[in-house]
Amino acid sequence: MSKLKLKATALCAISALALSLSSPPAVLAHKGAMGIVKERMDKFKASEKATKRIKQALSRGDTAVVMAEAEFLVSWASEMDSYFPENSNQSPSEAKDEIWLQWDDFVGAIQSFENASTALIDAAATEDPRAMDGAFSDMTKSCKSCHQQFRED
Ligand code: HEC
Repeated sequence: MSKLKLKATALCAISALALSLSSPPAVLAHKGAMGIVKERMDKFKASEKATKRIKQALSRGDTAVVMAEAEFLVSWASEMDSYFPENSNQSPSEAKDEIWLQWDDFVGAIQSFENASTALIDAAATEDPRAMDGAFSDMTKSCKSCHQQFRED
């Protein structure tokens, strides 16, 4: 490594350190959530926003938005299980122990959500408002049904 490069690397390390010292501790973010718990809370928050955007798009017949947001939900569903490593329900997580005690059921609930989101994309492709409304209602039911079983109220 050249002297110049070494110097640049050292400077980088110092500024990274300074940055980590000056930013607020991660523990303050999202009512104290850290790491994977914070990451999945952010994903669920984004799902809530996507659901609101779909509802608005349905009322004005904007099929492209319905499809794009439903695609986000499918992709979230396809990786959701990896956001629930064992014993990752420390405070302030609202994840119930049942997730890990009944893992197959939890994976089944994720699968229902993924199927319902895929069905919404298919309904959007038909551009039939009644099909889209029905598929949207099924999709939101799959959110609620998982919450009833696996999330603290
Ligand atoms: C397969 C189960 C499952 C599905 C499907 C699911 N959720 Fe959740 N959701 C959870 C669990 C478990 C938590 C609690 C996570 C935690 O606190 O660690 C949660 C938390 C949330 C939160 C709170 C996030 C926060 O900031 O604390 C919102 C909002 C939410 N979900 C919305 C949705 C919406 C909207 C959908 C459907 C589009 C959905 N969820 C689908 C299991 C699910």
